[in-house]
Amino acid sequence: MFKKLSIAAITALTLTSGAFAAGGGDEQHIENIDFSFDGPFGKYDQNQLQRGLQVYTEVCAACHGLQYVPFRTLADEGGPHLSEDQMRAYAEQNFEVYDEDLEDTRPAKPVDHFPANTDAGAPDLSMMAKARAGFHGPYGTGINQLLKGMGGPDYIASLLLGYTGEEKEEAGVTLYANTAFPGGWISMAPPLAGEDVEYADHHSNDLHHISEDVSAFLMWTAEPKMMARKQAGFVSVLFLTVLSVLLYLTNKKIWAPVKGKGRKEN
Ligand code: HEC
Repeated sequence: MFKKLSIAAITALTLTSGAFAAGGGDEQHIENIDFSFDGPFGKYDQNQLQRGLQVYTEVCAACHGLQYVPFRTLADEGGPHLSEDQMRAYAEQNFEVYDEDLEDTRPAKPVDHFPANTDAGAPDLSMMAKARAGFHGPYGTGINQLLKGMGGPDYIASLLLGYTGEEKEEAGVTLYANTAFPGGWISMAPPLAGEDVEYADHHSNDLHHISEDVSAFLMWTAEPKMMARKQAGFVSVLFLTVLSVLLYLTNKKIWAPVKGKGRKEN
């Protein structure tokens, strides 16, 4: 009886969470994308993060900052994993930062963070993938989040792919129709058209691939330790399982004489 009830309850919960996800938001359309880091065992794809870094540097950095991301983390294992030299050269060649001691700007060093960029009125992208992670939740049982990821990078990719081509002017500002943006009109002109960057590994650079690459990279900036977190989670589940079995056996052993006696008396 209990088993039947619990199965019914689980089915109901799964179905409602699925239904919510399908109809989530107003008319927003967000595509679920299969990223390499989705699911409990998902991992970042180092090459994809490097390609995403390139897209950010060559396109998005013109308007968006990444002020919470230190350059040195680009060399971390589990991230884009540039070599120390590549990371140093990347920072030096692409960014200048203001140094208070010199009272002047100088080429960026590994200890510096990516600069903030507020010139275009564009939000900082360091945490954007988590700030917009609501698509697969927070309602439901968390099953969608577990299997499909949090939805933040899916949102960013859908945003980059969601321009319809329509535009309008409102109070002197040009707005662009976008099927992923809440409200449907965004003030960011379509930043990508496809083939905006040339990848060194000759990976496809059509609009879909570039959008996914930069979204994956922005997931990493928002959660650089995702793989360590998943691993720790897995180890603790394993530990708790072993502990439960040992406790069960210990419990049986401790009570064996008492229970055995009981049976004899009957
Ligand atoms: C020409 C400047 C410019 C460029 C280049 C640009 N953006 Fe933007 N972006 C903006 C502005 C302005 C906004 C704020 C739009 C608004 O709120 O209407 C914005 C907003 C965003 C948002 C937040 C949307 C939200 O939900 O609030 C994301 C994500 C984003 N941009 C990603 C990117 C990515 C990724 C790139 C590079 C491929 C990029 N942008 C390139 C100007 C730019």
